[in-house]
Amino acid sequence: MATKVTVPAVRARKRSGTPLVMVTAYDAPGAKIANDAGVDIILVGDSVASTVLGYDDTLQLTIDDMAHHVAAVARPRPDPLVVGDMPWMSYHTGVADAVGNAAKLVRAGAAAVKLEGGAKRREVVAAIASAEIPVMGHLGLTPQSVHTMGGYKVQAKNLDGARTLVDDAVALAEAGCFAIVLEGVPDAVARLVTETVEVPTIGIGAGPYCDGQVLVFHDLLGLEDRVVPKFVRRYASLKADATSAVAAWAADVRAGRFPADSESYHLPEEVGRLLLGSTAAGAGA
Ligand code: KIV
Repeated sequence: MATKVTVPAVRARKRSGTPLVMVTAYDAPGAKIANDAGVDIILVGDSVASTVLGYDDTLQLTIDDMAHHVAAVARPRPDPLVVGDMPWMSYHTGVADAVGNAAKLVRAGAAAVKLEGGAKRREVVAAIASAEIPVMGHLGLTPQSVHTMGGYKVQAKNLDGARTLVDDAVALAEAGCFAIVLEGVPDAVARLVTETVEVPTIGIGAGPYCDGQVLVFHDLLGLEDRVVPKFVRRYASLKADATSAVAAWAADVRAGRFPADSESYHLPEEVGRLLLGSTAAGAGA
C-alpha cells in the first residue's frame, strides 16, 4: 500500500538523488491519475484559470474558486501531497487575510499552500507557516505578475536579476518555505539557487539542476493544442484522441449505428407483448 506523502518527506528529499515529481490537477479524475501514476506532489495550480476555466490569465481567480478545485482533488484522498495555490489578491492585502485564505485551502483539503514572490513575501510566509500551514514559494516567472513583468518572459537573465533571485530564494527559505518552485529561469541560475538553499527547488522551464520538476497536467497530456513553451514535453495527445472519439460517436449516432441492440435495455417478453398489444401501434402490428 502506498503511503501519504508529507511535507517533512518532501523536505527530506533535498539532495537525496531522486528528483521530486509534481504535477498539477484540478479535479477528482486528475487527482486519481496523478495518484495512480505515483507522483509525489499534486499542485492544484491557479493555472486552472486557463486550463479549465477558459480565462486568459490567472488574475480572475478567487480563493473560493481555488477552494472548490482543492476540494475536488482532495476528495479521492490521493497519496501525493496536495498543495493549493493561493490566487492573486488572496495574500496581498495583509497578513491576516493571507492566513485566513490559506486556512480556507487547508479546510478544503490542501496540506500546504503555494504563493508567488520573493523577499517581499517574507512576513506573509512566516505568518502562514506559524499558523502551522506549510508554504511552498514560487520565484522567477510568476504568472500573477504578468503586467509587472510585461508578459510571460524568462526572468533572472542578467547579473542583477540572477543575484536578486538567489536572495529571494534565501529569504523564502529563512521565512519558512518548505520548497520553492522556480519557473522560467536560466538553468545556471536555477542550479545556483538549488545549491544555495536547504529546501528543495522544483523547476518548470528552469532546466535539470533542480531538486524536482513540475509540469501542468494539460500540457503533459496534450489536453489542449495550443503552442506550448519549449520546456513542455508532451507524453500524450488526449485532445486529438478525445476529438476523434466524440466525432466517431457523432457519426455512429447520425448513421443509426448507435445504440446497438446490445446497448439497449429490453422489456421482459411477456410485458412487451402486453404493452405493445394494448397500444394502437401494437394492435395494428
Ligand atoms: O499554477 C500552476 O500550474 C503553477 C505551476 C506552473 C508551478 O504555478
